[in-house]
Amino acid sequence: MKPITEQIKNKPILGWVLFLGTVVVVFLLGMLASAVMERRAEAVFAYTPQVKHSQFEPRNEVWGKNFPRQYQSYKNTSDTSFRSMYNGGAMIDMLEVDPRLVILWAGYGFSKEYNQGRGHAYAIDDVRNILRTGAPVGQEKSPMPNTCWTCKSPDVPRVMNEIGVAEFYKGSWEEKGHEVVNHIGCADCHDAENMNLRISRPALLETFTRIGKDINKVSHQEMRSLVCAQCHVEYYFNKETPVKGVPYLTFPWDNGFSAEAMESYYDQMEFSDWTHQLSKAPMLKAQHPGYEVYMTGVHAKRGVSCADCHMPYKNEGGQKFTDHHIQSPLNNVANSCQVCHREETERLIQDVYERQTKIIENRDELEKLLVHAHVEAEFAWKKGATEAQMKDILMDIRHAQWRWDYAAASHGGSFHSPVEIGRVISTGITIAQEGRIKLARLLAALGHNEAIPYPDISTKAKAQKYIGLPMDELNASKKIFLEQVIPQWDAKAAEREKTYEITNF
Ligand code: HEC
Ligand code: HEC
Ligand code: HEC
Ligand code: HEC
Repeated sequence: MKPITEQIKNKPILGWVLFLGTVVVVFLLGMLASAVMERRAEAVFAYTPQVKHSQFEPRNEVWGKNFPRQYQSYKNTSDTSFRSMYNGGAMIDMLEVDPRLVILWAGYGFSKEYNQGRGHAYAIDDVRNILRTGAPVGQEKSPMPNTCWTCKSPDVPRVMNEIGVAEFYKGSWEEKGHEVVNHIGCADCHDAENMNLRISRPALLETFTRIGKDINKVSHQEMRSLVCAQCHVEYYFNKETPVKGVPYLTFPWDNGFSAEAMESYYDQMEFSDWTHQLSKAPMLKAQHPGYEVYMTGVHAKRGVSCADCHMPYKNEGGQKFTDHHIQSPLNNVANSCQVCHREETERLIQDVYERQTKIIENRDELEKLLVHAHVEAEFAWKKGATEAQMKDILMDIRHAQWRWDYAAASHGGSFHSPVEIGRVISTGITIAQEGRIKLARLLAALGHNEAIPYPDISTKAKAQKYIGLPMDELNASKKIFLEQVIPQWDAKAAEREKTYEITNF
C-alpha cells in the first residue's frame, strides 16, 4: 500500500473524508464526555445531604432522603419470595419441619415457637408475634427481659444514649415496647456524620475491651464483618455482673470462639439457660454464633467479609454502590460469588447445597440421639436414680446438645465453615453416645434392662402435646396482646417521633 500522503495527493476527496470523519469522532467523544459529567453531577446531587438528623434517628426513611439507593435496596429486606434448599427470606416454622426440636427444648420458650430468620425488615414484627415473648396484657409480664430488644432496632442505641445501657436491659420486655418500634436500620451500622461504619452496640465493644482487643485498630475490611457481629453472635444474659439483678448482654468469648472454648466458659461459671423439663439437665441454648463460626472458615481466612457476600456492590445508572438488600447470596450469585469465582451459577449453588446436605445428615443423627438421651434420663429419674448417679450423664447431655445447637443455630454455618461444623457435630455424637452408655448401665443397675421406646413426635402438635404445652391457650392470649397492646405502643411511638429534630437543606 502507498503511504497515506501520496494517496491523498492522488485523490483529494479522501482528505476531506478523513477530515470530516475526525470531526464527527471528536464531536461524539465530546458528547460522551459531557454525558459522563452530567452523570457525575447527578451522582454528587444524589449524595448532597437533603436533611440533617441526629445520630440517634431511628427511622430509615429519614436517612434514606440522603441516600435513596441504599435505602431503596435496604427496603428489599422485606421480600420473602426467595427460598433456597434450606434458607431464604420466607418464614419457615422450624418446629413443624423438625418436631424433634420441641423435645430438645422442652421446658424452654423455644419449644413453643421457633421460625427461621427472615429479613431485617421483620425484626420488630417477628419479636412481637413470637410466642416466646408471651402476652403481656394489663398487669401481665413477659417472660423475657428488655435485653431481647437489643438486636432488633436502631431505637436501642437511642434509648441507651438517653437512659444508660444497664437501665435499658433492666425490666421485662413489655416495659420498652413503646420505645423500640423501628426495625434494624442505618443507625445500627453507620455514623450519621460521615456514614463510616460504626459499632452501635456496647456488648461487642465491652467484649473487645475484656479480651484486650482495640476496636479502633481493626481494618476497614474487618469492620465489614464486625458490624454484623454486633448481632449475629453467641451471647447470654449475665445477671451477676456488671450490675447485679440486670440481665446484662454478654458475649462468652473470654476463652475463645470455638464450641469447646465457650462451653468451658459457661461450665466454669456454672451457667445454664434452663433446666430441661424431661432429663433435668442444666442446658445451654446456643443463640446464633454466626460470626464465630464464619471466622473458622476459609473465606474469613482469605479476608472475605460478610458484606462481600451478603452486601455486594451493585451498579445502577452508572453508579456503583453497596446493595443493602441483605439476604441469602444464592439469590444473587452473580454479584455475591462470581466477582471471585469463575464457575457457573448452578455449580456454585450445588457446592453450597452439597455442604449443607452432608452436614444436616449428621446433625439429624445427633438430634435423634439427644431425644433418646432426654427420654431415657427422664425414665431413670422415674426409676429412682439419684442426683449423684445422674450428674455426669446430665453434663454429657448438656455438652452434646450445646454442640448440636452451636452447629444448628450458626445460620449459614454449614457453608461458612463446613469442616468446623462437621467436627463439632461429630464430637457431639461421641458425647451423646457416651452419656447413653452411662444411662444404659445406670438403668440396668436400677433393674431395667430393656430399650426405652422413642416417643411418637412425628408432628409438631404431637411433640408439643407430649411435653404438655397448652398451645391453644398460648395462641389465644397472644392474639389478644397483638390486638390490644401493639396499637398502643405504635401510637405512643408516633407521638414521640413527631418531636425529633430534622433540618431540611
Ligand atoms: C442490630 C442487629 C443486627 C445487625 C447489626 C445485623 N443483623 Fe442480620 N439479622 C438480625 C435479625 C434479628 C435477623 C432476623 C430477623 C427476623 O427474622 O425477623 C437477621 C437476619 C439476617 C439474615 C437473614 C435474611 C433472610 O432473608 O433470610 C441475614 C442473611 C443477615 N441477617 C445478615 C446480616 C449481615 C451480613 C449483617 C452485617 C452486614 C447483619 N445481618 C447485621 C439482626 C442483625
Ligand atoms: C447491617 C449494617 C448496615 C445497615 C443496617 C445499613 N448499612 Fe449502609 N453500609 C453497610 C456496609 C457494610 C457498607 C459498606 C461500607 C464500606 O465498605 O465502606 C455500607 C455502605 C453504605 C454507604 C456508602 C456508599 C456505598 O453504597 O457503599 C451508604 C451511603 C450507606 N451504606 C447508607 C445506608 C443507609 C441509608 C442505610 C439505611 C437505610 C444503611 N446504609 C443501612 C452496612 C449497613
Ligand atoms: C471476595 C472473594 C470471594 C467471594 C465474594 C466468594 N468467594 Fe468463595 N472463595 C474465595 C477464596 C479466596 C477461597 C479459598 C480458595 C483458595 O484459597 O484457593 C474460596 C473458597 C470457596 C469454596 C471452597 C471452600 C470450601 O468450603 O471447601 C467454595 C465452595 C466457595 N468459595 C464458594 C463461594 C460461593 C458460593 C460464594 C458466594 C456466595 C463465594 N464463594 C464468594 C473467595 C471468594
Ligand atoms: C463467601 C460468602 C459468604 C460470607 C463471607 C458470609 N456468608 Fe453468610 N451465607 C452465605 C451463603 C452461601 C449462605 C447460605 C444461603 C442459603 O442457604 O440460601 C449464607 C447464609 C447466611 C445466613 C442465613 C441466611 C438465611 O437465608 O437464612 C446468615 C444469617 C448469614 N449467612 C450471615 C452471615 C454473616 C453474619 C457473615 C459474616 C460473619 C456471613 N454470613 C459471611 C455466604 C456467605
